[in-house]
Amino acid sequence: MDTESKKAPYTGSPFRRELFMKGLRESLFSRNPVFLESVGSTNSFLKKMGDSGAPEGTLVLTEEQTAGRGRMGRPWLSPKYVNLLFSLLLRPERMDIKEAFSLTVILALAAIDGIEAVSSVRGGIKWPNDIYVGQRKVGGILTEVCGGNRKIEYAVLGLGLNVNWRPEETDSLLYPTTSISAEYGEVVSREKLLAQILIRFEAYYKEVLRAGGTESFQERFNERALFLGRDVEIETADGNISGKAIGMDKYGALIIANRKHGEQRVLYGDVRVKFRGKEDSP
Ligand code: BTN
Repeated sequence: MDTESKKAPYTGSPFRRELFMKGLRESLFSRNPVFLESVGSTNSFLKKMGDSGAPEGTLVLTEEQTAGRGRMGRPWLSPKYVNLLFSLLLRPERMDIKEAFSLTVILALAAIDGIEAVSSVRGGIKWPNDIYVGQRKVGGILTEVCGGNRKIEYAVLGLGLNVNWRPEETDSLLYPTTSISAEYGEVVSREKLLAQILIRFEAYYKEVLRAGGTESFQERFNERALFLGRDVEIETADGNISGKAIGMDKYGALIIANRKHGEQRVLYGDVRVKFRGKEDSP
């Protein structure tokens, strides 16, 4: 019998708020944290708070979601006590709705940098919102924006990160999945990891507001993007776009080049990499 099948399931442990707050210190996200044992979706919960005037920096973290949502209406699955499930409320003054992508980009970068700070695991980004380790998904971001007159009133950024999960114990996964501890070989502190991600995210957010875009992150993003230089097909609401992935522009849009249209900016879609005439994902 192999040793893997004898492993007892990892049941995790409750999130230690004090340890997390100590690691976060004075921060935009330490002013109004909300910790929930269970909720439908932290994004939906925080959007209601956003509508009622909750301040920028509000953090909602839960141990369990009963209706966790991913992009394209997909469910987000996670067992209780083992992963990170949280949302952040931002009110970036004067930010145009079309620049909202930059927020997803910097959260993805903060997540891979935070992961690397607490483990030696090197993550990659599958534009626009997936966090990968090797060929397996370890996390995803759901950004939802509320605004009018082309300006953002508030943005809710939700991150689901597989921290201490053993995805092999689940049989209802939609794609190849892993967790940080599965890659690292040890249980990872969710509290330290979240503090490390948020410390970085706050600094990156301030830089984006100062510079008016993600220009200073472009090089780093492109370095960690999974499919640059590859032939990709992107499923968008207006149909599929094919071409070579060139990189990300200063607002977080993906630049695709093909013979017919030259360079195109893609703001929303699901990327598949074309691989020897077929497609694979990522
Ligand atoms: C995706 O990969 O499609 C995005 C997944 C986003 C999941 C997170 S978990 C916390 C927050 N609440 C939700 O309902 N979704 C996001």
